[in-house]
Amino acid sequence: VKKVRTRHFQGAKNSGITITGLTSYDMLTAAIFDKAGIDFLLVGDSAGNNVLGFDTTLPVTIDELIPLTRAVAGAVSRAFVIADMPFGSYESSPEQALHTAFRFMKETGVHAVKLEGGVRSAEQIRRIVEAGIPVMAHIGFTPQSEHGLGGHIIQGRGASADALLADAIAVQDAGAFAVVLEMVPSAAAKRVTETIRIPTIGVGAGPHVDGQLLVWTDWAGLTTGRIPKFVKQYANLSGVLTDAAKAYIADVGSGSYPAKEHEYEE
Ligand code: KIV
Ligand code: NA
Repeated sequence: VKKVRTRHFQGAKNSGITITGLTSYDMLTAAIFDKAGIDFLLVGDSAGNNVLGFDTTLPVTIDELIPLTRAVAGAVSRAFVIADMPFGSYESSPEQALHTAFRFMKETGVHAVKLEGGVRSAEQIRRIVEAGIPVMAHIGFTPQSEHGLGGHIIQGRGASADALLADAIAVQDAGAFAVVLEMVPSAAAKRVTETIRIPTIGVGAGPHVDGQLLVWTDWAGLTTGRIPKFVKQYANLSGVLTDAAKAYIADVGSGSYPAKEHEYEE
């Protein structure tokens, strides 16, 4: 199989093919999504909410994401794998950002890194790209700054559409190979997508973008909490696993598991 590279992201945009991505935090889902034909997998710091048991992404550390990223990167044969740089691991300086990117590249086998912020993160992006590491940018709603933004609030509405576009241009000029637009109105996403050369990847940004990305646990109905409006659930894994657990508990209780075929003979 031909591996997905950054040039395939640009090629898809140029030829009007929509790029598909999901998050993944482990080898089993990574292998499944890869075989199904997903273009890229993001080992998101959304692992904080979905794997590690935090309420937000803020407490997530590099050391927590490295083993998850290694598991995903090691499980794919075609998909492009991106490591999310956690809160506090790149904001201080371009040097800090490069140091963090080096850790992910050297310790996990990942293909690229992602960080949050437009204009404010442009120098960090430039420094990492200069070292030969592809960077996916992330603008619009940026969960690591939810307290600064005042909550889970849609970005790029009304007059702030201009700031969203300025962020998109800043990350493009800094050398990002693609940019995630999270929770922005469809019209603002369309304007950004039509204005910049690099592909836009929407997460709650409507249909007028170059690619779509969802958090896999939301998308597959494994998450039991509140799901954002923009998510379409493609499965009901929490229901499937609840039924399985109940059936197992009942079978063990009644003695119908283990049955003859599960036993080892002398
Ligand atoms: O961590 C994550 O899953 C993300 C995407 C939602 C963009 O950053
Ligand atoms: Na993230």
